[in-house]
Amino acid sequence: MNKAKTWSAAFALLLGLSACSGDTQTQGNGPGGNNGGVDAGPTEDAAPELTPFEEALEEREYDYSAALRIAALRLKGDLPTLTELQSVETASDQKSAYEALVAAYIADPRFADMQVDFWKNTFKMGGSVELDSAGVLAAQLVVEGRPLTELLTATTGTCPTYDPNTNIFTPVDCDNGVPVHAGLLTHPGMNAHFISNMAFRRVRWVQETFACTAFPAEISSEPEALSDTALYTAPWEFTSISGVANGGDIDFLDYQSVVCANCHATMNHMAPLFGYFDDLGVLNNEISVPKPVDGNPPTALIDWLPDGETTGWRVDAPAADLPALGAIMAADPRVAECSVARAWNWAMGKGDIVDTLSTVPQEVFQTQFDDFIANGYDYKELLYQVFTSDDFVQF
Ligand code: HEC
Repeated sequence: MNKAKTWSAAFALLLGLSACSGDTQTQGNGPGGNNGGVDAGPTEDAAPELTPFEEALEEREYDYSAALRIAALRLKGDLPTLTELQSVETASDQKSAYEALVAAYIADPRFADMQVDFWKNTFKMGGSVELDSAGVLAAQLVVEGRPLTELLTATTGTCPTYDPNTNIFTPVDCDNGVPVHAGLLTHPGMNAHFISNMAFRRVRWVQETFACTAFPAEISSEPEALSDTALYTAPWEFTSISGVANGGDIDFLDYQSVVCANCHATMNHMAPLFGYFDDLGVLNNEISVPKPVDGNPPTALIDWLPDGETTGWRVDAPAADLPALGAIMAADPRVAECSVARAWNWAMGKGDIVDTLSTVPQEVFQTQFDDFIANGYDYKELLYQVFTSDDFVQF
């Protein structure tokens, strides 16, 4: 029997996700919610003896009524009706009765409202029609069963509107001077909201939203000692980004206090792609993000990358423009993994996942991950699977 193994995987998931919650979440949610547990995932071993937490997990029982309450709140924004609760409680096959209701909630018009809210929170954008439209696009993809990867690849309709009274999504093309759109990467709201020096905040948003981890995003298997105390850990050639020694105004090759390049090797190869959007999110012919030196002049290409360097998503994944970046990201399994982890996180009621995905072993949600890809990134189907999974319906 590998039941204990299954349990401990589920356990690691709960711990990982409770650690994800950061300062927005008190400990104590779920069976693993105890500070002692945060370290248990990584140190868990194959010993047959169960830790107290694993024992707690072993003691969990199916409770379809409790699961129904949480599912209803998340998926339709309201408690189950008495009839719904009774239909589960009195069913001879509670599992099937519960699953039918989860499917009904996902088909409920209010599911669209809940999705719009979820994605606005996920994207940390909202409050105007333009900012809302990023979350609306994601919700539309989910509700319509379209591939979630269109968030990175859609060429039309990327500024849709949503009418909460009728629950109708209306596709609208963004009008910000972009010749070929790439989902939210070229979105005017995103580019306006995350304007900053050298476009790094946009890059950070893209990384954290779609890869679920903060920078540094890439770690080499062969780190390089730059000095007795400075270790260069990114897989790019150290001088593949700019510093004062190779023509830039900002010294990304500095390693006196921190090794800038550990993060900026990846960041600087992506940032130029976002550098031509101005503070209104409109694409210009000229680089339109300032650089943090006297007078705040526009950044120059040489401030990010020395001549001859090309832009890209990762060291082995070049991308000449945002549509290419979107296509590469859409095909990156880690981006899919991030989407699946967010679904779990939301179902389990946890906060933002950034910084902590690495503590959640992928095998915990391997089945949902494989199915998500096999189903063409259908997030609605994924949510059904998560809300009907064994981990969700046991307490
Ligand atoms: C741990 C990763 C990391 C390291 C190390 C790092 N940075 Fe950054 N840097 C970032 C991120 C992420 C941002 C974007 C922050 C934001 O705007 O939200 C940023 C932003 C910047 C900006 C723009 C700030 C602004 O005014 O908007 C500059 C300039 C910069 N970094 C230079 C450096 C230099 C120089 C070093 C080394 C001394 C360095 N960074 C080290 C991750 C890093």
